[in-house]
Amino acid sequence: GRTKAPFSGNWNPKRRCHAILGFLFLLWVCFIYLPDPFASPPEEDPVTLLIWTHPFGEYRELPDCWELYQIDGCTLTDDERAYPEADAVIIHHREIATLNVDLPPEPRPHAQKWIWLNYESPSHTPRLWLFEGIFNLTMSYRTDSDIFLPYGYLVPRERALTGTRSRFTHPLRGPAHSDFRRPRLVAWVVSNWSESHARVSLFHKLRRFVHVDVFGRVGRSLPKGSDSVVQLLRRYLFYLALENSLHTDYITEKLWNAVLAGAVPVVLGPPRKSYERFLPPEAFIHVDDFTTVQDLARYLLMLRSKPALMRRHLDWRGRYSVHRPVFWGEHFCTACKAVRKSKDRTDVVKDLTLWFHS
Ligand SMILES: *[C@@H]1O[C@H](CO)[C@@H](O)[C@H](O)[C@H]1NC(C)=O
Ligand SMILES: *[C@@H]1O[C@H](CO)[C@@H](O)[C@H](O)[C@H]1NC(C)=O
Repeated sequence: GRTKAPFSGNWNPKRRCHAILGFLFLLWVCFIYLPDPFASPPEEDPVTLLIWTHPFGEYRELPDCWELYQIDGCTLTDDERAYPEADAVIIHHREIATLNVDLPPEPRPHAQKWIWLNYESPSHTPRLWLFEGIFNLTMSYRTDSDIFLPYGYLVPRERALTGTRSRFTHPLRGPAHSDFRRPRLVAWVVSNWSESHARVSLFHKLRRFVHVDVFGRVGRSLPKGSDSVVQLLRRYLFYLALENSLHTDYITEKLWNAVLAGAVPVVLGPPRKSYERFLPPEAFIHVDDFTTVQDLARYLLMLRSKPALMRRHLDWRGRYSVHRPVFWGEHFCTACKAVRKSKDRTDVVKDLTLWFHS
């Protein structure tokens, strides 16, 4: 349609004069009543976050949130003597669920918040019902957590993080010729092999049609080293990023290992729509996209023989970097930032079990 120029026609000197007076009046009102725009923004109070347990009992040094993530005003401590003064306590589910560690003592200090921290799926989150009506904030991989931090996410290249934060952000590169002709076809890394898992029955069907190299406890051993999986996957066209159980938003580091290595992830997990919140639609192949496992296998073999079609699944890469949050330092700093933001609010987690299983 046609748009009308905003001040067309009657923009006469008299109106102009009124407009200027009006603007000056507004400026004067602002000057008197609003905070000085040149003053620095009001300081939020600094907060202390108490780490109640090191997740899975594995001690790790606590990070400096300012130095690593430019999050200021946060003191992290794992010294329980800080409990009476702590603004918040972050409590990892596993240790309290196995009753290895008690909850902090009640009554809790005034205005202190308790944060429920968990990155396992509901299938591996035992005894949730014991912790109803206790927590104030949730932190998990679920997008609807009070404090949301996924296993990984893409950052558009042009917004690539600067400073020390970029240390944890890996630029992807667009596909090279050799990426369409990698020597090996499909890899799978699995540590917990259980016949009851959907991923194992998928594997049994898939291997009737394509060769799958299996690594992990039941397969070939993995090379040693922190990024060994990523290194290994660089030789493969496809990686089976199959979650151990299927739940809302439950997408783990398996996906990001494949993405980093430039192997196209074949995913089994939540529906395609969930993955599309994290990746361009063509960046992964979803098991649900095919009526049968044989169709899936045919598609993979077809892509191997037709690099032009494979390109579609890799071309998006040049535009992004991957950020993989570091367990657990980044989680603690992110939680601390959220505590600062919600300081004057009362928060209560309702129906923890119902929510987490939904
Ligand atoms: C392996 O999977 C089974 C079946 O889901 C589960 O009961 C068990 O806790 C899992 N083991 C580990 C170490 O995750
Ligand atoms: C935290 O949760 C508890 C239990 O639901 C509640 O009694 C308390 O008021 C909450 N505190 C804050 C600061 O939100």
